[in-house]
This record gives sequence, structure tokens and C-alpha cells, in this order.
Amino acid sequence: MGAQSLAVACGALALCLALARATNPGFMVRITQAGLDYAHQQGIAVLEKELAQLKLPDISGDFRIRHVGKVHYEISRLDLRSFHLPYSRISLVPNVGLQVAISNAFADVDGNWRVKLHFIRDHGSFDLKVENVYIKISLKLGSDASGKPTADTSDCSTRISKVRVHFSGKFGWLYNLFHSAIEPAFRKILETEVCQIVAKSVRDELQPYLRTLPVTAKIDARAGIDYSLVAPPTATAQSLDVDLKGEVFSLAHRSAVPFTPLPLAFPPDHDRMVYFGASSYFFNTASFAYHAAGALVFEITDSLIPKDVEFHLNTTTFSAFIPQLEKMYPDMLMKLRLSAPSAPFLDIGPEGLSLRPVVDIQAYAILPNSSLAPLFLLRLTGNVSAVIDVKSGHIVGSLKVGRMRLSLKHSDVGIFQVRMLQSIMNIYASNILLPRLNARLDEGFPLPLPDRIQLSNILVRFHQNFLLLGADVQYQPRGWR
Ligand SMILES: *[C@@H]1O[C@H](CO)[C@@H](O)[C@H](O)[C@H]1NC(C)=O
Ligand SMILES: *[C@@H]1O[C@H](CO)[C@@H](O)[C@H](O)[C@H]1NC(C)=O
Ligand SMILES: *[C@@H]1O[C@H](CO)[C@@H](O)[C@H](O)[C@H]1NC(C)=O
Repeated sequence: MGAQSLAVACGALALCLALARATNPGFMVRITQAGLDYAHQQGIAVLEKELAQLKLPDISGDFRIRHVGKVHYEISRLDLRSFHLPYSRISLVPNVGLQVAISNAFADVDGNWRVKLHFIRDHGSFDLKVENVYIKISLKLGSDASGKPTADTSDCSTRISKVRVHFSGKFGWLYNLFHSAIEPAFRKILETEVCQIVAKSVRDELQPYLRTLPVTAKIDARAGIDYSLVAPPTATAQSLDVDLKGEVFSLAHRSAVPFTPLPLAFPPDHDRMVYFGASSYFFNTASFAYHAAGALVFEITDSLIPKDVEFHLNTTTFSAFIPQLEKMYPDMLMKLRLSAPSAPFLDIGPEGLSLRPVVDIQAYAILPNSSLAPLFLLRLTGNVSAVIDVKSGHIVGSLKVGRMRLSLKHSDVGIFQVRMLQSIMNIYASNILLPRLNARLDEGFPLPLPDRIQLSNILVRFHQNFLLLGADVQYQPRGWR
């Protein structure tokens, strides 16, 4: 299909875009030029080491020299002593991938020579300086069926423009022999071998490294995050964008999420190496998964009340607000069972991250035989905001509770003034519930990072529907302490 008919087939650009992005990511990773430059630096160091390991085959042949006759030559024990890649850069090729251009690379090679001419045999050693080596590598990034990233060398070319040789021995014709016969063969071998090493490094080093990206990142015993790629990474003129599913799910029983991610409108920021966009979908699937797993239920008993809180959780305390309790359930301990009737829905906007959870509070009296007598059911609604940070590669948060409103849903002990319970419930919420929730949130959600990456210089911003995190990256090579 030609370009024109493709354009016709797509009809409107909007349709093409809609088709290309059928699934919005719940989580997006953007690697900027600064990030690519850093990764490139690490990659070149690896490639330089690999190239120095290059094994070159022996070269032999016959060559006819005028007035002298037929010379049989053998070049053996070619040893690449070093390979230096002093100048290189990585660039984005929009809609294609990445390109690495290495220029003015140089290498030192030494080896042995042996010649046979009529009945004369001679041998010695030589060293070579290979200069002005240009290597151009195209990398194609993709994703496999499991949603892991893939990397492949789609193209590689090496051009050597200068080879200088020095022989031990004083035969001028050796130089002629070298430049006419050996150099072209040598150049061809080296050019091929370099690209083979490049392809091998991408296959054996880069690809396995990229695959350390956790496609399922475990949060805790209950839930994990699906960080599989929903599409191959996209190169634009400014960045490499990776769209991830970004869905939190229950490890015991994954169920379909009844809502879909909204598009993430990333700002053009580019001063950090990497940006993460965690959509409200990401956080809401967390809420959904924990709610479905029955994790959003919390029981408060008197033993949980901190020593410095005077309000003990018993009917004596509560009869100050509900006088009839004293007669109905005299001097008994109580228990509160807090639960969310539905998964709390979370909103992200430029002003921050907020949620308006609804919490049902069922109060019980604990009878002398340990069975529970239901007292009343309250509904607590409030405005909660979250402060977000990044710690050890995890998104961490802490909740701040704003004003809360209590209402009575049901009473087994007759009428009472709910307003009177407001302050005691506030105390329980802020002294017992919140510290426990915040301790959990402080463990955080793991970010999608491949092995041995540390983040620094963290930036946290809120945008419509998503949380934007910026960071610089530090890679710690194996064995680093
Ligand atoms: C109930 O709490 C009050 C203080 O609020 C305390 O004096 C009393 O001993 C408690 N009763 C029980 C049964 O724990
Ligand atoms: C516990 O005591 C209450 C009232 O004294 C009674 O109604 C209830 O059946 C008892 N429960 C058990 C399990 O014995
Ligand atoms: C929570 O915030 C919303 C709007 O921001 C407001 O309408 C509502 O009254 C607040 N609720 C409480 C309990 O303060």
C-alpha cells in the first residue's frame, strides 16, 4: 500500500491517532535526551570493553610482486589491544527508534607475519593503528507478547578510513604487500566483526537488561502492578515514550476494572532524565483492588487507643454523648468496625491529589460473653488530600484529612445527637486510622525501573488526571558498593 492510499485508508488523522492509541496507558515513562545521553554513556563503556575482546581470524594468501615473484603470506595472532570510542552520540529518529553514531574511534592491533618467497622464509611481528573508525547503529525498540520491552539492532555499518602499520624488519616490499593485499582483507574483517559485536552486545547485554523491567511489580502480599507495555516504545523528536498498562490488581483474584484510563497530556518538560506519569486510573485501580480484596476494613478496639488519648473506647465514655448506653450496656468495652462501602475514588488535578472517601463506622458493645451487640452505624465523609514523594524508587504518600462530616445511618440504641460524636471520631481517625494508613502508604508503590537504577533530583507535579514525577537516574554497575 502506497503512502497515499494509506492516507486515504486512514481518512482522517484523528482516526489514525485513535487507532494507534486504542488503549490509553495507565502509566507513562518518558526518557528525555538527557536520559538517553546518560544511558548511551553506560552503553558505550560496555561496548568499548566488548570490542577489546574481539577475536580476529588469521589472514593468509598469495600475492605477486613485480620483479620478485609470488609471495605467500600469513598473518596470525591478531590481537586487539584496545578499542577506543571517544566520540559518539545517540539521537532519536522519530517513529523509528534510536541511532548511535560513533566517530573517530581507534584501535591498536598487533600480530605476527610470516612470508614465503621462492625458498626464502621470514617472519616477524607488526602493529597496526586503526584510525577514523565510524560506526553507525540503528536500534529498534519494541515489546513482546508478555509486554516486556525488546531491543534489536536494525542496522549497523562500520567504515574504517585509515590503517597504519609498523613492521619489525626492514623490508620495504612488506609495506607494499600489506597495503595492496592484507589491508583490504583486514579492513573487511574488522568492519564485519565490529557490527557483529554490536549486535551481540545489544542481544546479550541491552536486551536482557531491559527485560529486568518488572512487568508485574509486587506491592505487598495482596496486590501487584501490571507494568506491561501496551505498545512498542515511541520515539519522538524530543523523547522516547513508553506506555505501560499501569494497573494495580489483586494477586489472589484479578478482576476486570470497570473504568478506563484517560489520555495523559504530558508537559514538554525535559530537564530531568526521566519522567513518570501515574494516572488517576493507576491510583483508582489500587483503590479498587484493595477494596475488592477486603483490605479496606479496619477495626478499632480499646487496646489500639494510644495512652495519651483520654477517650477510652467503652460505653462509660460514650454514655456522655448517648446517655441510654449506660443503662443498656453498662461499663462494657466497645469496638468500631470501619469499612468503605465502595472503593474510594481519587481525583488528580493541578491543585493536587484528593479523595472524598465514604467510611461506614459500625459501633458494637462487647458483651461479657464476648459476643458483639450492635449499637449504631455512622457514615463518615471527608475531604482527604495526599502529599506525594518518591523514596527508594517507590511513590510514597501521606494523607491529610480535612473536615469530616458524620451522619447517623442506623441506631440500635435510640436517638442521639451525632454532632456530639464528631470530636471523638476525629480523634480516633487522626490518631489511629490515619497513622496506620500512612505507614502503609509510606511503603509505597514501586516505580517501573529496571535493575540497579537509583533516582535523584525528584520533582513532583500534578496535572489534570495524572501525577508527574521527574528524576535523574544513576546506574550502579554490577558489583558496585
Ligand atoms: C472506660 O473508660 C473510662 C475513661 O474514659 C475509664 O475510667 C473506665 O475504667 C473504662 N471502663 C472500662 C470497662 O474499660
Ligand atoms: C451472649 O450473651 C447475650 C446476652 O447476655 C446473649 O443474648 C447471647 O446469646 C450470648 N451469646 C453467646 C454466644 O453465648
Ligand atoms: C469537600 O470538598 C467539597 C468541594 O471541594 C465540598 O463541597 C464539601 O463540602 C467538602 N466536604 C467536607 C466534609 O468538608
